[in-house]
Amino acid sequence: MIVYLNGEFLPLTEAKISVLDRGFIFGDGVYEVVPAYGRKLFRLQEHLQRLDNSLQGIKLPNPLRHSQWTEALETLVTHNSSEDQSIYLQVTRGPAKREHNFPAQIYPTVFAMSEPLIPPPRSNGVKAITCPDNRWQRCDIKAVTLLANVLLRQQAVDTGAVEAILIRDGYIMEGAASNVFVVYNGIAITPPKSQFILPGITRDLVLEVMQAAHLPCREGNISVTQLHTATEIWLTSSTREILPVTTLDSQIVGKGEPGPLWSQVWQLYQDYKQQLRNHQ
Ligand code: PDD
Repeated sequence: MIVYLNGEFLPLTEAKISVLDRGFIFGDGVYEVVPAYGRKLFRLQEHLQRLDNSLQGIKLPNPLRHSQWTEALETLVTHNSSEDQSIYLQVTRGPAKREHNFPAQIYPTVFAMSEPLIPPPRSNGVKAITCPDNRWQRCDIKAVTLLANVLLRQQAVDTGAVEAILIRDGYIMEGAASNVFVVYNGIAITPPKSQFILPGITRDLVLEVMQAAHLPCREGNISVTQLHTATEIWLTSSTREILPVTTLDSQIVGKGEPGPLWSQVWQLYQDYKQQLRNHQ
């Protein structure tokens, strides 16, 4: 496996960073996960824009221009053999003496790797649980500091579920590593963007393809009561695409099978990916 580290392409086993890297010591860094379908990077501009926002959120200048990112990531894709790949990239505040405040001189660490992406098969429905959202107040920053998300996801997995849907002040925010849609009164609703959720690229695309197809959707606050009486619940992310939740907190959602609106949106999403693969 070939990875990218600070301007070089090298085998994974040769990619080394300092144990004093602030990413390791403090979780002081941000990341992106960018799918590539048919070796074409999916919504790259949107991912790079979100990376800029995350870097701005942690007051770290972007070490690369967008054109440099594009070249580095496109080269990484050509170095790896799968047609569909999942690119993980990370920027940290780099190595420095351990002190909380920013070092005077910053040498950011820029790392990217690729894994084969096996798109999830058409789902028959998954289980999710609800959990109080105990994360910080800047969930719009895609920070590598993911301990709360890791613990919440594990709590879900320990009960046989695939995701924890997070509740703050009686309202749904997002999943531990996904955004949430709820079908209520026939309309697909997803929470509005705020500092409490990550602005998901998949979420935005779902809204976009639904609007283009004149399917009912909107942004809006979703209470726990609405969640528990929803006819459909979906989770969206770059790696899981659009997953229908058919069991929530041990109760059946809707008819206990993926809903009709989900089927339509899932197909639109597959068509969108296929267009990208076919595009020269
Ligand atoms: N996570 N919310 C959170 C907290 C996430 O971690 C993610 C994705 C999303 C969905 O964002 P997108 O549609 O851009 O993938 C929402 C990635 C996949 C991860 O951490 O692996």
